[in-house]
Amino acid sequence: MRILSIETSCDETAVSIVEVEGELPTATYTLLGNALFSQVDIHKEYGGVFPAVAKREHAKTLVPMLKKALLEAELLDNSPTDFGDENALREILSREDGLADDLINFLEDYSLPELDLIAVTSGPGLEPALWVGISFAKALASVTKAPVIPVNHMEGHILASLFDVVEDDKLAQITFPALSLLVSGGHTELVLMRDWSKYEKIGQTRDDAVGEAFDKVARLMGLPYPGGPEIGRRASEARAAKLPPFGNKALPRPMINSDDFDFSYAGLKTAVRNLIGDKTLTEEEKNRLARDFEDAAIESLYAKTVKAIDHFDIKTLIIGGGVSANSFLRQTFVEGLLSTHPEIEVYLPHRHLSTDNSVMIALAGHAELAAARTAGAIAFIRADGNRSL
Ligand code: KG4
Ligand code: ZN
Repeated sequence: MRILSIETSCDETAVSIVEVEGELPTATYTLLGNALFSQVDIHKEYGGVFPAVAKREHAKTLVPMLKKALLEAELLDNSPTDFGDENALREILSREDGLADDLINFLEDYSLPELDLIAVTSGPGLEPALWVGISFAKALASVTKAPVIPVNHMEGHILASLFDVVEDDKLAQITFPALSLLVSGGHTELVLMRDWSKYEKIGQTRDDAVGEAFDKVARLMGLPYPGGPEIGRRASEARAAKLPPFGNKALPRPMINSDDFDFSYAGLKTAVRNLIGDKTLTEEEKNRLARDFEDAAIESLYAKTVKAIDHFDIKTLIIGGGVSANSFLRQTFVEGLLSTHPEIEVYLPHRHLSTDNSVMIALAGHAELAAARTAGAIAFIRADGNRSL
């Protein structure tokens, strides 16, 4: 089957075309076309993602991404589409500035290929941003008559970590029970999987997400958005140069010993703020503080994950979400578990699938195929900013 997938939950606008043969968990996925535009340079100016700006940029970028993905897939057909009533499309896209015009112009020049499924992120994420992708999916469905599946973005991150783009275009054949540690700008959670598509959240952050803490601490240090990669780079420099700690007392690890699988990052961020006070940091001091922060942030993740591994007799660990790109996180988990839990298989996403993308939305759409909506039921798909696994 051929899947067109769309991701617009935050600040990446992405469209993919994926061909799938077979069924979960042994299906083969061929990535025919993949187009992604990161809005990060636009959001840098504001020091963070503003939902209204993200929404506007998604609306502007979706048709170019669709065209690029189709071109790459060699499915861009130079003949106009008979899309019937123009007003029906305008109605579906009425809240997405300029998107109706863009799509209608596109359809007047090109036709869409046959699609078996349209997969679109419906949550969690920024609702105004999610709606652009959802409305676009509805418009494409009205033209192609393809069913639509509203995908959970976090399921996408989990499957992205199991997708081996290099080896054989299949999902890893994992042993259950598996545990997913999801670490992104909006989430820090531990999800127990007793089987494919069976998710049970066992722990989560009580306040800030770990990626959010990286971004906020970077901001306190005057580093550009998104702060995560910048902190990671500086922390690595401090470690390589064996620089001493920044403060004279260790940063806190909130909730590290609590009797549950939850996390907390607000206190760590506040401790960093207090430590900086009104000082202007030198470049070297920034590196030292970045390293101290990263040590504290990753140690809490590691401690709670190992605790859950032991408690649930976990066989497989899956780490997903934007923060899984962090080198120190990767090293801590891979080396740490190898020494104490060598029997556990650890899966990390390929670097270009660790931050938001639409390949993972196609994988999750295929995994949840049974929940696909057809015809009139498509109209009821809604954005759900707090959608949970
Ligand atoms: O999954 P993602 O792309 O978007 C969300 O769904 O939130 O995650 C983005 C988050 C941001 O907070 C970003 O700072 C963080 O992932 N991030 C990193 C690194 N790369 C991205 N954090 C630490 N180290 C990195 N190398
Ligand atoms: Zn994400």
